[in-house]
Amino acid sequence: MTSPRPDSAGPDVAGAAPARKKLFIRTWGCQMNVYDSTRMADVLAPLGYGPAETPEEADMVILNTCHIREKASEKVFSDLGRLRQLKEEKAGGGQKMVLAVAGCVAQAEGAEITARAPWVDIVLGPQTYHRLPEMVARASRAAGAQIDTDFPVEQKFDLLPEVRANQGPVAFLTIQEGCDKFCSFCVVPYTRGAEFSRPVAAILAEAKRLVAGGAREIALLGQNVNAWHGEAPDGSSWTLSRLLYALAEIEGLARLRYTTSHPRDMDEALIQAHGRIPQLMPFLHLPVQSGSDKVLAAMNRGHKAELFYRIADQLREARPDMALSSDFIVGHPGETAADHAATMALVEKVGFALAYSFKYSPRPGTPAAGQPFQVPEAEKDARLQELQALLRRQQDDFNRACVGREVEILWTGAGRHPGQIAGRTPWLQPVHAMGPAALAGRMARVRLTAAHPNSLSAVLLDEKELTPA
Ligand code: SAH
Ligand code: SF4
Ligand code: F3S
Repeated sequence: MTSPRPDSAGPDVAGAAPARKKLFIRTWGCQMNVYDSTRMADVLAPLGYGPAETPEEADMVILNTCHIREKASEKVFSDLGRLRQLKEEKAGGGQKMVLAVAGCVAQAEGAEITARAPWVDIVLGPQTYHRLPEMVARASRAAGAQIDTDFPVEQKFDLLPEVRANQGPVAFLTIQEGCDKFCSFCVVPYTRGAEFSRPVAAILAEAKRLVAGGAREIALLGQNVNAWHGEAPDGSSWTLSRLLYALAEIEGLARLRYTTSHPRDMDEALIQAHGRIPQLMPFLHLPVQSGSDKVLAAMNRGHKAELFYRIADQLREARPDMALSSDFIVGHPGETAADHAATMALVEKVGFALAYSFKYSPRPGTPAAGQPFQVPEAEKDARLQELQALLRRQQDDFNRACVGREVEILWTGAGRHPGQIAGRTPWLQPVHAMGPAALAGRMARVRLTAAHPNSLSAVLLDEKELTPA
């Protein structure tokens, strides 16, 4: 659930309300989109929209989209084709269904969406979700699509209603949005706009509300979350480490994470915080993209492989059980076999507990898309396979090395089999054990007993935890 993989379908989220109408939200992309989907549901709840299980039973469908790779964008258009049919069937039965496209495809391709899919009622970019109610009202009256893809980023957070407190044991909290880094391959600076940091007071208030509503773990979110620098009530500017120390003071908050970070913004104080804040989990997603200095320069990443090695060493020095996760792109324009070998060498040397790797996908309007020396598809395939085999091996090794350890688990809900509960280890691995459902939302110690490809089995250790509070 807290996987940072940007190209996977996220959970479908909808708001809780005494529902007169039903809302279905399908979420693609990163955790920012998952967070935004919960916020859109919050915005629409006062209008009487409650959650729908399927698009078929919904009065409104929102596709919250991702533009990061070509495949991600194309999924939206195939979904829109299916929804057209549904909308027409409903109209035949006298029922109106409002169809909205939100997220990064809406931002980047708003005009194309309305041209290719004129049955879409609303197109709205990630910064305009607070205007949803108004757009829904207009869409129900007017013919033709309502489009809003402005960039008033401060307003988004100021004008959205307070976050609903009861998100469950693991909650997301967006503290930063947008990106000024302009990596050669990436659409995010164009779809999410310039970097914006939410102020300290708003973040602390939201965190407290989440904890009061049952959150035991908070994952701070941002496209460049470690570049966050928020204004404090006294007018000074805080960095992320300072914020983490403040959040760690909140009673009842057992775990803290933050994602996604950029190596350039991993300052000394933040690295040291990993050794000093027990609530800060020993797991960090830190995308490196490539191990070749030449490719890193072509990508405009602004650092060399050496910096990544140094950060990995320092993090492990600060917190010896630290595990790392990362993102990789193979086949960036100009990447040679030797550059790829440098990426393989970086992976060998650093060792990752988890990683996401992608074939370079040219994105319209980004600098890399127009560059010569595009790597042939077959070569990209071969490099990706080689890299993924190594990363898979490292993930398996890491999971196997966890077997026998005694660790604390945050239980999130029922497991797949009767009598089972499911949760996450400090390193974000899904774990399941036999135990009472009443443990959901609580912590309990286990011994990890077996490693499977994507999860771990465990046995509960602490009998007293088995009595519900
Ligand atoms: N802000 C984060 C991640 C943003 S997007 C960072 O700075 O790293 C998530 C991941 O998608 C990136 O880390 C990158 O590995 C991948 N990605 C982004 N654009 C891509 C493209 N054009 N082709 C392939 N993968 C891409
Ligand atoms: Fe994209 Fe680079 Fe910004 Fe990450 S840092 S969001 S990869 S431009
Ligand atoms: Fe995708 Fe936009 Fe996130 S492009 S990865 S949904 S910021």
